[in-house]
Amino acid sequence: MSSPVLVTGSRGAIGSGLVSRLRAAGLPVRAASAAPEKLDLPDDVETVRLRLGEPGTFPAALAGVRQVFLYADPTHVDAFLAAAKAAGVEHIVLLSSSSVLYAGAEDNPIAQRHLAVEQALTASGIDATLLRPGAFAGNAAGWAWSIKSTGTVEVPYPGTHASPIHQDDVADAAFAVLTEPRLRGAAYHLTGPESLTAAQQIAALGAAIGRDIAVETVSPEAWKAAMSAYMDDATADALLDYFAAYDGRPDTVTRGVEELTARPARTFADWAAENADTFRP
Ligand SMILES: NC(=O)c1ccc[n+]([C@@H]2O[C@H](COP(=O)([O-])OP(=O)(O)OC[C@H]3O[C@@H](n4cnc5c(N)ncnc54)[C@H](OP(=O)(O)O)[C@@H]3O)[C@@H](O)[C@H]2O)c1
Repeated sequence: MSSPVLVTGSRGAIGSGLVSRLRAAGLPVRAASAAPEKLDLPDDVETVRLRLGEPGTFPAALAGVRQVFLYADPTHVDAFLAAAKAAGVEHIVLLSSSSVLYAGAEDNPIAQRHLAVEQALTASGIDATLLRPGAFAGNAAGWAWSIKSTGTVEVPYPGTHASPIHQDDVADAAFAVLTEPRLRGAAYHLTGPESLTAAQQIAALGAAIGRDIAVETVSPEAWKAAMSAYMDDATADALLDYFAAYDGRPDTVTRGVEELTARPARTFADWAAENADTFRP
């Protein structure tokens, strides 16, 4: 039996999708999670408790592993990489973010934590493949409560663009770089197939549920106050800066998904149709 691929954060949308893909391909996989007892996986999938913030959990999770899918948590990344080297890990695929590519990345808290892990990984001597997706289509789930309860979404910049990527495409890309050696060792900027404004994304959700959804513009301050239960002020400010910079300005669209998976990236409308029930009252 060959060594298992260690998938960190296996309860995550991408981690869980990757575990399923590796299992379906008949490849050995070890699903790691901070709470493995909450994983909903077939009995034949090996599981292990791993918290990226708790170095004591690293050695057992990494024993016998040659490849890792890693979520970006800079807290103890040096200890994780030292444990990975000691265990004989040869290749790590990092779930990074396209935020590292934007001007001012060093001063942006979202980009900073991804950059810190990218830099540590690149310096480690272990083969590194960097997946740098842009905004996830799944972020739209954050509008569900408001759509269900009021039929309205409040946004600070209705005209701000993103090229939302379906998380299944990120899982497919991760599967490709873990299973096809010629794709290893590069950085991939991954996006959805089209740049859409926030208002266009909300209209696509409306089309998926067969209902008009109103878009209301609120001040950046009001949006930040509404988000305070979900994110710290620095993250909210970083997102507001991004929204303002892309207001009326199309986002980059790459062919990264196609390059890695040999088929076109899923559209935002695909995601909306698959997740329509999340938005129905
Ligand atoms: N959102 C974006 O637009 C965006 C853009 C670019 C990059 N990214 C990157 O992608 C990451 C998020 O990936 P994702 O979509 O797979 O994240 P996710 O579904 O939110 O899961 C993130 C982590 O939270 C834990 N988790 C998942 N479900 C949970 C639950 N019900 N209760 C408690 N913990 C749970 C999981 O780790 P355990 O199983 O170990 O608990 C999981 O790995 C971000 O952190 C960022 O680095 C995001």
